[in-house]
Amino acid sequence: MSTLKAVRGTRDLLPPETALWNRIEAVARSVFSRYNFGEIRTPVFEDTALFARGVGEETDIVSKEMYTWEDRARAQSEKTQSLTLRPENTAGVVRAYIEHKLGESGHLQKLYYIGPQFRRERPQKGRYRQFSQIGAEVIGPPHAGSESPLRDAEVLEMLATLLDELGITGWTLKINSVGSASDRPKYIEALKAALAPVVGQMCDDCKRRAETNPLRVLDCKVPEDQPFIDALPKIADSLDEASRAHFAAVCAALDAARVEYTRDHRLVRGLDYYTRTTFEFTHGGLGAQNALLGGGRYDGLSELIGGPKAPGIGFAIGEDRLVLTLLALEQAKGELADTYIAPLGEGMNPAALTLARELRRGGMRVELGDGSFRLKKSFEAADKVARSIVLLGEDEAQSGILTVKNFATGVQTKVSRAELAAHLAAGRDK
Ligand code: HAM
Repeated sequence: MSTLKAVRGTRDLLPPETALWNRIEAVARSVFSRYNFGEIRTPVFEDTALFARGVGEETDIVSKEMYTWEDRARAQSEKTQSLTLRPENTAGVVRAYIEHKLGESGHLQKLYYIGPQFRRERPQKGRYRQFSQIGAEVIGPPHAGSESPLRDAEVLEMLATLLDELGITGWTLKINSVGSASDRPKYIEALKAALAPVVGQMCDDCKRRAETNPLRVLDCKVPEDQPFIDALPKIADSLDEASRAHFAAVCAALDAARVEYTRDHRLVRGLDYYTRTTFEFTHGGLGAQNALLGGGRYDGLSELIGGPKAPGIGFAIGEDRLVLTLLALEQAKGELADTYIAPLGEGMNPAALTLARELRRGGMRVELGDGSFRLKKSFEAADKVARSIVLLGEDEAQSGILTVKNFATGVQTKVSRAELAAHLAAGRDK
């Protein structure tokens, strides 16, 4: 029989790496709570129309990457429905905001989420078909301050803090403004006019996008196309006065808070709902898929899916990529147990369990060996999983004086049972 494997683009997360995922999520929750965000959990699948309308029919995500199926009616009272595994979480959050009339509270909603997303992409390092995002959205009626450039700057400053607290160094923040809904048509016209004489010499994707979604041409990575793209008009030149002032205010607040960024005229992002500020944090350690996270403002999204005016801004971090970055920074070595208890002979097993219980109750991380192992085997096993080994034979049990070897220093000492926990705790810092 052929063996069954995890589906292409999906993977199992195993210890010790899962400890890193948990640490990342704990740090994220702690930072979000200091910025007064609360958690939202939306369903993993939604009505397909939500993404078609919210994210945009012409985007890569909607046109080729969604897991969509016809969900058959099971009773006369039900109807067959087109459903989709969520490829991202912003549309779901805004749907929930509308459905639960969260705007009626009159104040800003600050919501975060952590969970799996699904896109049928070509899998490679850092790109999976099931991946996890840690994201947050700030959304509310305009009178609650949801359009203010201070929201944008605060979200970016929070991200810089989160990455710093996770120990991720060397990130780059790129920002741009894609303008308001009324700026965009002007720019698209200018782009189309500039593309018309040259697009014949560009790649097939660009030829198609020049027709369907000219903004996406700016995303092209084909080296031969770059000189053409560099010569295209910049969106900054099509912004109206209000969008220009908004972007300048975001930059001024970031400067004041000393959050470093660079402006990237080509950062238009792959989802159609963006207006004004767009941003990405990249990291060199990631290779081709170097976007650690992305986000931006989406002032018209609520109306697109049938809701009230509710400007918003948010981001999603690729959690898989955070993990890869931390591993690359070598901050994620498998956690070693504080000690390994080696019973000397099977008769010592019960005493060893008792000692392990004592230490574990005191907060120590303990691996318990087995009295059937020869001493050499115990040492080899202990060296792989723990910082030290404690030998427990008849003599030690009677005298209460244990032999402890610290693997990092190579020092072997006698320690009384009463002092063992303190001795092992001191070994953590060596
Ligand atoms: P996005 O740029 O499509 O934006 O995704 C955000 C992040 O998710 C990316 O920067 C990347 O780190 C990660 N990501 C995306 N696709 C994959 C994949 N196939 N495998 C692994 N990681 C991936 C959004 O999803 C927007 N909803 C962000 C947002 C929130 N904008 C406003 N609010």
